[in-house]
Amino acid sequence: MDNVRTPFTALDEQTADNRRFLLQHLEVTARLPAIRRVRRRAQEAWDLHDPARLLDVGSGTGEVVRELAALVGPTGEVVGVDSSRAAVDFARERADTATVRYEQGDALALPYPDDYFDGARCERVLQHVTDPDAAIAEMVRVLRPGGRLCLIDTDWESMLFDGTPQLSEAYRMLAPTLPTATSTGRTLRRRLVTTGLADVRAEPVTVAMTDYAEAAALMSVLDRAVLQGPLLKLGETAEPWLAEVDRAVTDGTLLAVLTIWVVTGTKPGPGQA
Ligand SMILES: C[S@@+](CC[C@H](N)C(=O)[O-])C[C@H]1O[C@@H](n2cnc3c(N)ncnc32)[C@H](O)[C@@H]1O
Repeated sequence: MDNVRTPFTALDEQTADNRRFLLQHLEVTARLPAIRRVRRRAQEAWDLHDPARLLDVGSGTGEVVRELAALVGPTGEVVGVDSSRAAVDFARERADTATVRYEQGDALALPYPDDYFDGARCERVLQHVTDPDAAIAEMVRVLRPGGRLCLIDTDWESMLFDGTPQLSEAYRMLAPTLPTATSTGRTLRRRLVTTGLADVRAEPVTVAMTDYAEAAALMSVLDRAVLQGPLLKLGETAEPWLAEVDRAVTDGTLLAVLTIWVVTGTKPGPGQA
């Protein structure tokens, strides 16, 4: 079990202001070219064939669920499940087809029968979950034999910066103070192999950003308001790092790099373990 506690681990326990900020942050992130690219790669790797029932675990503000509706057609069903009531309400306000459903539920005890879905996905959620292996076991349980699992997660330890010589060094000093499960992305392949999934494939999708606004939207560590505000409360500790970021932005040399992993596998049929 991972000892994880991030602002997304129990979103509903955040203050109303923090909750609103975090949900709006998810909507902004969904529009970033970097995340659009990761999702396109994930969709290809998921490799679904005429699915009728799909599940998105930790569906957040629900953009992907709405996009998946086109894959299952009018008689299919796409379910987004999230432990946060606030996230579910937010997503429901934006739902526009009967095919799509958002429900409150815990990844560690999914409220669905065994062997139900043709495909399950889970994007940037396991880094916030206390027991990622238990969540993966639940996703496998609700997949039908032959069903496809697609996990997407960040490897925060792969986050690198160029710009000024001090930039990476400054970040290394700040990193231990940040509440993030650092390596989840690159652990996913091992977790799926250990779970006994077939045809496990892992692809690192590396995103490199030179535009400050885009980089800061994906990497809160670049955002003064997040670092020093009510979410992370790093105050003066973050000042030397932010000064380096400002300098790189001003002289146009900022380069931020991050690897996000896309890992897929197939639930074996009976006797195929
Ligand atoms: C960083 S957001 C990602 C949301 C969405 N998958 C996306 O890519 O935009 C993490 C989401 O996981 C949800 N979450 C965290 N722990 C969960 C759990 N145990 N079960 C279900 N959802 C969980 C949070 O409420 C939040 O909506």
